[in-house]
Amino acid sequence: MEAVAEFMQIVTDAGALPTVRVIEGPTSEPEVTIDGRQVLLFCSSNYLGLATHPEVKQAVADALGQYGVGANGSRLVSGTTEWHLALEAETAALKGTEAAIAFPTGYMANTGTIPALAYLPYFARTAGLPLESETRHMVVLSDALNHASIIEGLEAARAKHVYYAHCDLDALEEKLCRHQDKRLLIVTDGVFSMDGDIAPLPGILSLARQYGATVLLDDAHATGVLGRTGRGTLEHFGLEGSPEVLEMGTYSKAFGSLGGFVAADRPTVDYLRVAARSYMFSGALPPCLAAGIVMAMKIAEREPQRRVRLMRNRDYLVFGLEDLGFDTLGSETPIVPILVGDDDKAEAMSGELFARGLFAPCVRWPAVARGQSRIRITLTASHERAHLDRLLEGLAEVGGKFAVV
Ligand SMILES: Cc1ncc(COP(=O)(O)O)c(C=O)c1O
Repeated sequence: MEAVAEFMQIVTDAGALPTVRVIEGPTSEPEVTIDGRQVLLFCSSNYLGLATHPEVKQAVADALGQYGVGANGSRLVSGTTEWHLALEAETAALKGTEAAIAFPTGYMANTGTIPALAYLPYFARTAGLPLESETRHMVVLSDALNHASIIEGLEAARAKHVYYAHCDLDALEEKLCRHQDKRLLIVTDGVFSMDGDIAPLPGILSLARQYGATVLLDDAHATGVLGRTGRGTLEHFGLEGSPEVLEMGTYSKAFGSLGGFVAADRPTVDYLRVAARSYMFSGALPPCLAAGIVMAMKIAEREPQRRVRLMRNRDYLVFGLEDLGFDTLGSETPIVPILVGDDDKAEAMSGELFARGLFAPCVRWPAVARGQSRIRITLTASHERAHLDRLLEGLAEVGGKFAVV
């Protein structure tokens, strides 16, 4: 326990203990109450505004009445209901794949899937090679800014893993070339969660084909958001139906709930059901949530105007920020970072914004590299022009005061 106390002291001294704000009421609307004050929220992943949609709530309530609050078992034992199957079918339809598998969270989708893919049976099956040789010859190449759940999955995988510089195709090719005698898996976020930029998928896929690599695409922030019909990063680039790509995603962002998935060909999905430990050895997603997500996905498909509003909001804010002289790190999505650099300055800026009724949190080490602290804004379809104008006004004042513009 001494080590714990020592660690906590270091974190406290570094000022890295998070300030957790308690939201009174729903966390999914642009206007929320914190400490009895009305505040505008700019950090929700409820991109399409579906978390509190009446039809979603009704679907959850109906299933809650029938199934109760939980699945009360692993999917492999007693935790599979028709709502889980409906959710997986809806997900496969959205992603245009043969099948999909739902996990209790997106985090668990990555921590279960990466070791399963890196482990021998998967590649032995696809390559028709003996199991033993496949284990020894696997290398996983991961973008340096991939999400924490991918890093966790890499640590748990029984395979060598190497990182390539963020979105750097030359660096990726150099590593592919160096390991070309091995079986290769490239893992990348579609949209990077702290920078809001998009992976250069056309280049990654062309390298994957050249070197015979498989790609695991984490489409957590792109699913329901990017692409003409919200299918995600592949659709954004017109690359749907690329057979070397397995897609992972979450239901905790655009679909306003909880849970994660992998969409792929049926043999891979069947394999994950018996090889992904976070699927096998954990309780299933509550059926009432599965029912709510199915409804949210149907609404997202039927109301494309939500995606249009979201992207209009994003464009309005980013153009406004660029006019003011902020560095938004090349963000192309509703995740809009404002680079500050210094940890304490970023924390103080976020505090000043909060004092003005604007909740735009500071993200600092260890969530981002040291010296890369930022204000991280996320927008939703529910934000109105007046909300964005208030944020721009607040940022202009605070940015000037802290000499960030
Ligand atoms: C890129 C990325 N992948 C995976 C996850 C994990 O998803 P979930 O919140 O559903 O566990 C997140 C969550 O923030 C994420 O940003």
